[in-house]
Amino acid sequence: MALDINWFPGHMRKTLRSIADQLSLVDVVIETCDARIPFSSRNPELDSLISGKRRLLVLNKSDLADEKVTAAWIAHYKEQGIVAVPCDASHRKGLDLIRKNCQLLCADILERAKNKGRIGRPIRAMVVGIPNSGKSTLINALCNRKVAITGDRPGVTRGYQWARSDSMLELMDMPGVLWPKLASRRSQLCLTITGAIKSEVVEMTDVASEGLTILIDRYPVETCERFRIDAPGTEGFISDPDERFLAAAKNRGCILSGGRIDEERFAAIFLDDFRSGRVGRITLERPDRPE
Ligand code: G4P
Repeated sequence: MALDINWFPGHMRKTLRSIADQLSLVDVVIETCDARIPFSSRNPELDSLISGKRRLLVLNKSDLADEKVTAAWIAHYKEQGIVAVPCDASHRKGLDLIRKNCQLLCADILERAKNKGRIGRPIRAMVVGIPNSGKSTLINALCNRKVAITGDRPGVTRGYQWARSDSMLELMDMPGVLWPKLASRRSQLCLTITGAIKSEVVEMTDVASEGLTILIDRYPVETCERFRIDAPGTEGFISDPDERFLAAAKNRGCILSGGRIDEERFAAIFLDDFRSGRVGRITLERPDRPE
């Protein structure tokens, strides 16, 4: 798989600059990442930019991720002094935990405001996250309505906007592209499998074939059951990844007239099954083995 998606460095620099410019206006930064790939779905430059700021890391899409591994990531971040919480913004789960942690993180600010007579001063939070990490879904869920999200598509350059969550939380939505640093091919693959990198720019059969190999390595039982292939350690296990992919496609009925395997169709089925959680709750990266 050859990917070249570190494509908008100028635009990303601009986003990072505008985040830096607005930081003084907020009390806390809420960063969304994808709980299935916490390593690859974060922007390391953002990390250093907001290091002096109170920060809450939201492991979003936790409904799709392996619960135990999410807990391990949360413990890992705790060791680094970062508060992380699981969230399923789509189903509005974890929102109270976010509110509560924002309050805890900003307790001293609220206390100072109270002492000055400003009881009930709302917490101001900047929401940032790479595309597809669920930033818009989270803002909408916290605000309980569809907030017009400032475009995070390249070329769209609008200023930030405030959205009121409730009487205690105001959210600043930062526009702009905030791509992760695509340090490794493995990260690119993870971002593609989870849907952050869109299909048009890559060969999806390669992505699905490699994805199948990763899933078999990490979650052999669930994966082999779903795609009706023999599991590692059993007699029928096919060790060659290409042959295995074709066997899985055949078992799923992806056969063209003339008997040729319809790899494209199976690639789409594989990715849809994974992304929708039908293979199971799967996390591709672990704190002890991020790559
Ligand atoms: P963004 O602003 O960070 O770019 O992400 P956005 O909220 O648009 O969410 C991207 C996709 O992820 C959406 O799916 C959204 O419904 C889904 N999503 C967001 N949060 C969660 C979550 O907690 N759990 C689950 N299961 N899904 C979540 P989509 O509309 O189908 O878009 P796409 O996947 O076709 O890009």
